[in-house]
Amino acid sequence: MLALTGSTGHLGGLLAPALADLAPRLVVRNPSRAPDLGLDVRTADYADRDAALAALDGVETLFMVSAAEAQDRRDQHRAFIDAAAEAGVQHVVYTSFAGADPHATFTLGRDHHDAEQAIRRSGMTFTFLRDNFYADLLPWFADESGVIRGPAGDGRVAAVARRDVADVAAVVLRDPAAHADATYVLTGPEALTLAEVAARAGAALGRDLRYEEETVEEAYASRRAAYDAEDWQLDAWVSTYTAIADGSCAAVTDDVARVTGHPARTLEQALRGE
Ligand SMILES: NC(=O)c1ccc[n+]([C@@H]2O[C@H](COP(=O)([O-])OP(=O)(O)OC[C@H]3O[C@@H](n4cnc5c(N)ncnc54)[C@H](OP(=O)(O)O)[C@@H]3O)[C@@H](O)[C@H]2O)c1
Repeated sequence: MLALTGSTGHLGGLLAPALADLAPRLVVRNPSRAPDLGLDVRTADYADRDAALAALDGVETLFMVSAAEAQDRRDQHRAFIDAAAEAGVQHVVYTSFAGADPHATFTLGRDHHDAEQAIRRSGMTFTFLRDNFYADLLPWFADESGVIRGPAGDGRVAAVARRDVADVAAVVLRDPAAHADATYVLTGPEALTLAEVAARAGAALGRDLRYEEETVEEAYASRRAAYDAEDWQLDAWVSTYTAIADGSCAAVTDDVARVTGHPARTLEQALRGE
């Protein structure tokens, strides 16, 4: 028995139909938003231990999408991981982050390290899909006038198409034992500066996009002025750029191709939904 979380979102929304022939159980927060695939749908928020225990009863393999950004995200992840182990789940496939580390420049990469450690401690078999930033999302870094602003310097990002992450997850979930205790670092085929991203994404989308450098101080100030955001959220937003600046997100791997048998999608392919 396979269970998929996140099917109301982008990644899980690609994965659920791709694996529908395996009759996976969908574990969602809001069943009215679950994809209509004729599958067993159960309700659980990661933080709700009792609901998670019930939703995961009888499940052997679990695809766990990382939770939405939140200050208590680590607690949510740990609660769900503990419930999975208690419910008897044998193997967890978790969407982590490239460079998950307690000292990751991208502050949310530290949450992913915490989740990976909790899964290792649980004794469940794991497969970690350490995703770089999603290529599909890079144009959304721009403001309404088409400017991507931040302290990324000339650093490079090997962003991965969300569709490639779904493709890798589908291969892994069809034969989990072949990927036991494996960690895959999922990237695009090349590492680009944000100036290159803006030019290529702009051409692909027919939009006027450009990159403008900010200092770290300017980045905090501009976001503080525009949003009523807490410090942890500001840190996450600004460190997206500083992680690109310091090379943390620049490594290109061939893990997408090795696992799926097809090359990783380019930025243009990711943006066109190919
Ligand atoms: N690498 C990157 O650049 C990048 C960028 C953005 C996000 N991410 C991470 O990757 C994950 C998957 O990406 P995506 O594009 O599919 O995100 P998405 O479209 O926002 O979908 C997230 C899914 O996770 C579910 N979820 C979130 N928090 C949950 C919780 N506490 N308990 C149970 N379910 C929860 C959501 O359910 P609801 O529909 O009920 O909200 C949704 O189905 C995200 O959740 C995020 O952690 C990575």
